[in-house]
Amino acid sequence: MNIVYLNGEYLPADQAQISVFDRGFLFGDSVYEVIPFYQGVGFRLTEHLARLEYSLRALQIQTVQDWEAILNLLVSQNGGGNLSVYLQVTRGAADSRSHRYGDDLSPTVFACCTPIKDIYTAGPDDIVPMKVIVTADLRWHRCDVKSTCLLPNIMVVHQAQAQDADEALMMRDGKLTEGSSCNVFIVQQGVIYTPKRGSEILGGTTRELIMQLADEHAIPLQEVDIDYEMLKAADEVWISSSTRGVVPVIEIDGDQVGDGEKGPLWLAMFELFIRYQQKLMTGE
Ligand code: PDD
Repeated sequence: MNIVYLNGEYLPADQAQISVFDRGFLFGDSVYEVIPFYQGVGFRLTEHLARLEYSLRALQIQTVQDWEAILNLLVSQNGGGNLSVYLQVTRGAADSRSHRYGDDLSPTVFACCTPIKDIYTAGPDDIVPMKVIVTADLRWHRCDVKSTCLLPNIMVVHQAQAQDADEALMMRDGKLTEGSSCNVFIVQQGVIYTPKRGSEILGGTTRELIMQLADEHAIPLQEVDIDYEMLKAADEVWISSSTRGVVPVIEIDGDQVGDGEKGPLWLAMFELFIRYQQKLMTGE
């Protein structure tokens, strides 16, 4: 059964109800996280919850919750295993629609689970490389906040879909930012490059892990501005996200990346990534 969490209750999805005046519904006045659980255990849960608190603070949504307890119970109520947990916190519902809000609102907390593939037991051959398009970044200037205002992200990924691609990478002011729901890395002559962290991109938890792994294994990695020419000339391109891990891109705007195969540095990073996950799961 699909059990969801809503404001303190665990209940079947078809019994969960929110107000039509909820500001998350009316204005996208809300934030979210997507957290993978492998074999019932949250992956980078601390990092996800830190980012959630950051997003809540940025929007001045005040709520005190035991997130870990809420999510662990939700996962166990859904049978544990490999699940992606979606957690959304809205500013709450007033009595009517108004842009203005008072400080008397009680935030709505919603969470649900979706089965995911077990990236942690995957081998490199299981990873399907991606085709992407490059398009304009139409978003606001606080992309570091994980808000549910995802219309530009949805528009660009739909554009990718229409062009038979899997993802859309976005550029703002001539600089690569990120994908519709992922961060981006490129490789040039053995060096990994990724766009600088700031308000134009989300500080991805997977991005942070890749940076940490590169650092620990003395693989050169730099945060730099990346323009379209640099992107197109890259030997390798990867995307990263919690639900997808680190995935190679083999086609950009219809042109092959490098030799059109999964690259050697991607393979090295993928193996470090999987080893990190396995260590975490087995405690070894
Ligand atoms: N998206 N950038 C954007 C715009 C994202 O939406 C995401 C994640 C990321 C990667 O962040 P992380 O490594 O912490 O998952 C980067 C989630 C998966 C989503 O919206 O479904």
